[in-house]
Amino acid sequence: MIITGRTRIVGIFGDPVHHSLSPVIQNAAFEAAGLDFAYVPFRVHPGDDLKSATESVLALNLRGVNITIPHKVGVMEYLDEIDPHARAVGAVNTVVNENGELKGYNTDGLGYVRSLVESVGFEVKGKRVVMAGAGGAARSILYALLSEGPASVVVANRSVDKARKLIEEFAEGAEGEFAKTLGSVEVTSATLDTAFLATGADGADLVVNTTSLGMDSNPPLDITLSGLNSGAVVSDIVYSPLETPLLATARALSFAVHDGLSMLIAQGAVGFELWTGAKAPVDAMRQAAEALLGVVGNRR
Ligand code: ATR
Repeated sequence: MIITGRTRIVGIFGDPVHHSLSPVIQNAAFEAAGLDFAYVPFRVHPGDDLKSATESVLALNLRGVNITIPHKVGVMEYLDEIDPHARAVGAVNTVVNENGELKGYNTDGLGYVRSLVESVGFEVKGKRVVMAGAGGAARSILYALLSEGPASVVVANRSVDKARKLIEEFAEGAEGEFAKTLGSVEVTSATLDTAFLATGADGADLVVNTTSLGMDSNPPLDITLSGLNSGAVVSDIVYSPLETPLLATARALSFAVHDGLSMLIAQGAVGFELWTGAKAPVDAMRQAAEALLGVVGNRR
């Protein structure tokens, strides 16, 4: 990569940022697309630093930034405009500098739905979805899934109150198109307990894990998959390991699997497109991420 006086700079604000895959994914994308952009990690401490860092996007004429933990909520007060999807989710992970105005987006859920279509050909509309988890990641994925008009969504969480609250919040805050779509979706909460794990996924078309179960040394999400509908997809947002025990079980049962890297790449692709206006080279992005993670082959 050659950086010149014309190179447009984008980056990521977070703390920590050293583990982020985004610099590698985005720089590979700029190179593959032949765009004169460069992506840089910026460690931004919590507190007052976030305000000055966000102002620096304008002062330094950056084209935009990704926002990661712990700043996804805090950054919102320093932006000029927030896209309706990000506002509904209550978090921003991508900022675009539009001629001196800072606009915030949330590409997590959009990326998730897009990657379901692009990597396994799964359309959410009219389908029965079972989602494990009700935390931060679940929030953006649930909003994006609901926006597509599935037949039903069950949100199963260890602490069921959190699942209930999440559903209530979306129902109460719903407006416009989203409210219309939500009106036709059967959304319920459940406790992610032994009984649910045994039969809760029966009849589902999509099972998605948004919890940290299955990540590295954590126990797996041990949910019975044998009762899924034919043509079902099993999806995990965990990408370390890339093939979680949940996905290995799904693969053994011949269901299509959708891994956590697909979502990460797709949410990055949405950001890439917002900054550059060009179509994201997702294959090059995936290859760069797999090389970094030491994963052989491209399973998309
Ligand atoms: P993230 O931003 O990654 O979603 P989070 O907001 O802390 O992280 O949410 C973590 C999710 O994983 C929650 O749904 C959590 O369940 P609780 O709300 O009941 O805590 C779920 N989770 C984490 N460890 C779990 C475990 N051992 N068993 C079941 N669920 C677990």
